[in-house]
Amino acid sequence: MHLGPVQQTLLVPLWARAQEAHEAVPILLDPKAAAIYADLAYDFSPLENAHASRVGCCVRGRLVDSWVREFLLRHPHGTIVELGCGLNGRFERVDNGLARWIDLDLPDVMELRRRFFDEGPRRTSLAASVLDDAWIEHVAAEAQGHVLFVSEGMFVYLHEEEVRSVFERLAARFPGAQIAFDAMTPLVLRHQEHHDAMRHFAARFTWAVPDARIVESWDGGIRIEASRRFYDLLYERARRLPRVARWLGRALAVLYPPLKRAYTLNLARLGIPPDAAPGSFHDTRLVRHPS
Ligand SMILES: C[S@@+](CC[C@H](N)C(=O)[O-])C[C@H]1O[C@@H](n2cnc3c(N)ncnc32)[C@H](O)[C@@H]1O
Repeated sequence: MHLGPVQQTLLVPLWARAQEAHEAVPILLDPKAAAIYADLAYDFSPLENAHASRVGCCVRGRLVDSWVREFLLRHPHGTIVELGCGLNGRFERVDNGLARWIDLDLPDVMELRRRFFDEGPRRTSLAASVLDDAWIEHVAAEAQGHVLFVSEGMFVYLHEEEVRSVFERLAARFPGAQIAFDAMTPLVLRHQEHHDAMRHFAARFTWAVPDARIVESWDGGIRIEASRRFYDLLYERARRLPRVARWLGRALAVLYPPLKRAYTLNLARLGIPPDAAPGSFHDTRLVRHPS
């Protein structure tokens, strides 16, 4: 398995989801992750004590799964585009038998992914960087109905101008689409050398913002419609954390409240016209431009 430094980070959420198979009450059920984990010749032992990342990846995945399920209930024939998909099997977890799925990641990841995931008429993949130009038109050509972009753990490895450019290009091309994404504050960036999982990897977080709502100031009529603090999601599952981490995390958050909003999961709407009344712009269809 040959993966570049940032690509290797996919192993953390994969490992976390696979471990859930051993839990009496799993946060997220993912037999596919367990099968891939068993098949990969990789030494995951340095992650053994990464308890917060293990629970954290699963609560994050579970929330995003729930947003995707809600989207599919409203738009059963819509399109999910998973950006930086890694070895995530969200399709296996939440597909409704009708939607269109497009998975995108860097070429070496997609090569590995093809060992484990099949494509079909409703499910295709793109080997590309989100920073490339061509993939957006590929998605526009293949997408059906309403579109939800999902980016879980990917933007944090880009730079601000790169993240902004992706958001603005998507907003211009897919007005009315939604995007689920995570964002961290500079606090996490400053302390990443102590991150329980990331300290075992060469890649580093590079995008941090004081507040995820900064995306609303970018071009393209972007509005955050839902936001959850990772801290709350993690501590809803506090019993899954070691006792010391449980009390230490809570005590630190009391002493230093910004810790509670250091990492957020967000759902935003793209391409809202400037004159739209609040709440009035929902669920427009993908606009197809003549090629
Ligand atoms: C932490 S992993 C998350 C993987 C997956 N979303 C999950 O939750 O299991 C980050 C992923 O982002 C991908 N990634 C990083 N930069 C990217 C880029 N410029 N274009 C596409 N994918 C990228 C990496 O290859 C990796 O698969």
